[in-house]
Amino acid sequence: MDLALSTISPGATRMIRLDHSHVLVTFHRYKIDTNPRVKQGLVDTICTALEIHAQLEEEIFYPAIREVTDNEAIRKSVPEHDEMRRLIARLRGMEPTDPAYDDTVMELMRDVLHHVADEETILLPEAERILADRLGELGAAMTKRRMQLVLPRSGEIACDMARSIPTPVYLLGGIAGLACLAAFGMMRRDDRSWR
Ligand SMILES: [Fe+2]
Ligand SMILES: [Fe+2]
Repeated sequence: MDLALSTISPGATRMIRLDHSHVLVTFHRYKIDTNPRVKQGLVDTICTALEIHAQLEEEIFYPAIREVTDNEAIRKSVPEHDEMRRLIARLRGMEPTDPAYDDTVMELMRDVLHHVADEETILLPEAERILADRLGELGAAMTKRRMQLVLPRSGEIACDMARSIPTPVYLLGGIAGLACLAAFGMMRRDDRSWR
């Protein structure tokens, strides 16, 4: 299993950059005049991706970095994640039509851009210098943990992605319904297979 995972998984730093790109590409689809339903789909997709990404970094990547180095970027990483979680919790409690919704999304993304800049210009190059021979193993561990974190949330993730697609409502209703049904059906099958 681990051998197969290490064959298909990207290395840890490549995976982290891919996660960052996914969040930024999703954010770039968010416009002030975007339909509220699409806004909520985009924001929920971003929030879930950030929650899973931050957990993977905190459980697997940051501890490996701390074993070999200590610098300002690694020391402030977890407090910065906590600030993102605070904004994510606020967004999850708001309607996309709330007058403060856009500003809260922009505040979250301002924090994310700052955090990603530090990771991509300090932490990841440092990891590639001092942890080069462990990046494959760390990437495999992160992929394994990601699967555990995503599986129970696969229905939610599918519904958020369906809502984030700006198609006519009549078409979207069908797509979202099918995506949710398919996702929940998969989860139920998975539940049975564990018994
Ligand atoms: Fe990151
Ligand atoms: Fe991070």
